[in-house]
Amino acid sequence: METPYQNHIDKEDFDHVYEPAEDSFLLIDALEKDLQYLKARNPTFCLEVGSGSGVVITAFGMAFPGTFCMSTDINYKACVMSQSTANHNKVSLDAVNMNLIDSFTDNIFDVILFNPPYVVTESEECGGKDITASWAGGVKGREVTDKLLDMIPKKLTHNGTFYLLLIEENIPDEVAAIMSALGFKFETIIKRKVRNEQQLVMKFYR
Ligand SMILES: C[S@@+](CC[C@H](N)C(=O)[O-])C[C@H]1O[C@@H](n2cnc3c(N)ncnc32)[C@H](O)[C@@H]1O
Repeated sequence: METPYQNHIDKEDFDHVYEPAEDSFLLIDALEKDLQYLKARNPTFCLEVGSGSGVVITAFGMAFPGTFCMSTDINYKACVMSQSTANHNKVSLDAVNMNLIDSFTDNIFDVILFNPPYVVTESEECGGKDITASWAGGVKGREVTDKLLDMIPKKLTHNGTFYLLLIEENIPDEVAAIMSALGFKFETIIKRKVRNEQQLVMKFYR
């Protein structure tokens, strides 16, 4: 998968929007590793939750030119940046300023991607709409992620796939147990140690 062009973004805009980092590229690498699986499923509608700069959903749109891509972010400035990244790379994207995936029709997305705010913090730090929403994950770094997990069965098509980036502190085994109870199988696609952080991407499907 190609890395999208990002030179249109001013460095100071990253004071307000998450700057693509190792986790963003690990999610892209996971999708690349799963390319044959994804191509075989011929996805039509794809959503990235919390798209930040838009680099992940744009990379996806470049690899799957026929798909209809959407993204959400709680941070308005991230939505503007995502839209602009997609436009500069000639990817058709609708970036929506929204909390998680509240307002979408049921059973619509073939692929859902999420690189969440995963850092373990006090609950009070979690739930902002600015740059803090990029990292503050509350208890177990999972407060935002856990809310999304509950919504996945309703928003994903029956053959759909959900890709989620986690770190070890998020207790991936617990996430797997929650998704199993919701009727999903799971696999860890890729793992990488970044400084002291063990990052991984899990895939969930029925
Ligand atoms: C770790 S950043 C990832 C950004 C981008 N996807 C990437 O990989 O570079 C997490 C993103 O999730 C967004 N976010 C946090 N809470 C959210 C929520 N409740 N609904 C939608 N987006 C949210 C943040 O604003 C931020 O852009």
